[in-house]
Amino acid sequence: MNAPQLEAEDLEKVYGSGENRFRALKGVSLSARTGDSLAIVGRSGSGKSTLLHLLGALDRPDGGRVRYEGEPVDTMSTRDQDRMRNREFGFVFQQFHLEERASVLENVALPMMIAKVPAKERRERALEVLDRLGLADRADENAANLSGGQRQRVAMARALANRPRVIFADEPTGALDVENGATVADLLFELNRDDGITLVLITHSTDLARRCGRRVTIVDGELAPDDPAATEPVR
Ligand SMILES: Nc1ncnc2c1ncn2[C@@H]1O[C@H](COP(=O)(O)OP(=O)(O)O)[C@@H](O)[C@H]1O
Ligand SMILES: [Mg+2]
Repeated sequence: MNAPQLEAEDLEKVYGSGENRFRALKGVSLSARTGDSLAIVGRSGSGKSTLLHLLGALDRPDGGRVRYEGEPVDTMSTRDQDRMRNREFGFVFQQFHLEERASVLENVALPMMIAKVPAKERRERALEVLDRLGLADRADENAANLSGGQRQRVAMARALANRPRVIFADEPTGALDVENGATVADLLFELNRDDGITLVLITHSTDLARRCGRRVTIVDGELAPDDPAATEPVR
C-alpha cells in the first residue's frame, strides 16, 4: 500500500470573531491515495467548500494539518503554496471563474503562463487539451460567447493545462443542465480512471457520489461516522 497523497489531520476552520465567530470545521481528518476518487457530500453550509479550500491550499486552517505527498502544506510560504497548487492541482468550480474577456485559448494557457511554460508550448498544450474536450474549434472565441457547458469544459481544460495530479471539483455540474452535467462528470471520471488523476469531488448528486470510489459526509463541520454501505464503490 502506498502512503496517502493527500492527508488532512484534525482540521479546524473558524470564520469571523466575537459574536460572529463560527466554527466551520471541527476536527476533520481524511486522506486520499494517488488515483482515488473521493466524494465529499453533505447539506449546504456543512463545510464542504471550506474543506476543499484547505485541501487544495487555497486557504489555511486554524488548526490541524494538511499534507501533500508527506509535506506539510499549511505551514508553507504563500509563494511555495502557489507554486505547488499551480504545478500539482487543478480546480473546477460551479461558477467556472473564466476570464470572460479573454479567449478560450488564453484562459486555458493562463496556468501555464504562471508556470512559465514557453509561449509556443503553451499554445500547443492548450490546443491539445481543448481538442480532447471537444473545443479546439472555439480556441480563439471569447469565453463570454460560450454556453455554460462549453465554459465548464474550458474551465476543465484550464485545470488540466499543467497536467495536475489532483483535481478538486466543487459542484462542477451544479450550474449545468442534465446533458452538459453528464458530459462534464464523465470527463472527470475519465481523467481519474484513464490518467490516474486523483479526484476530490463535492457534489449534491447521489449518482455522482456513488461513482466515486469513496464517499465522506460532512455534517455541521464534522465527518459523519463511516457508513459501511458507502465504503465500496458502486459500478
Ligand atoms: N468567508 C466566510 N466568512 C464567514 N462565514 C463563512 C465563509 N465561508 C463560509 N462560511 C460559512 O461556513 C459554513 C460552511 O460553508 P461552506 O464550506 O461554504 O459550506 P458548503 O460548501 O458545505 O455549502 C457556512 O455556514 C458558511 O456560511
Ligand atoms: Mg460549497
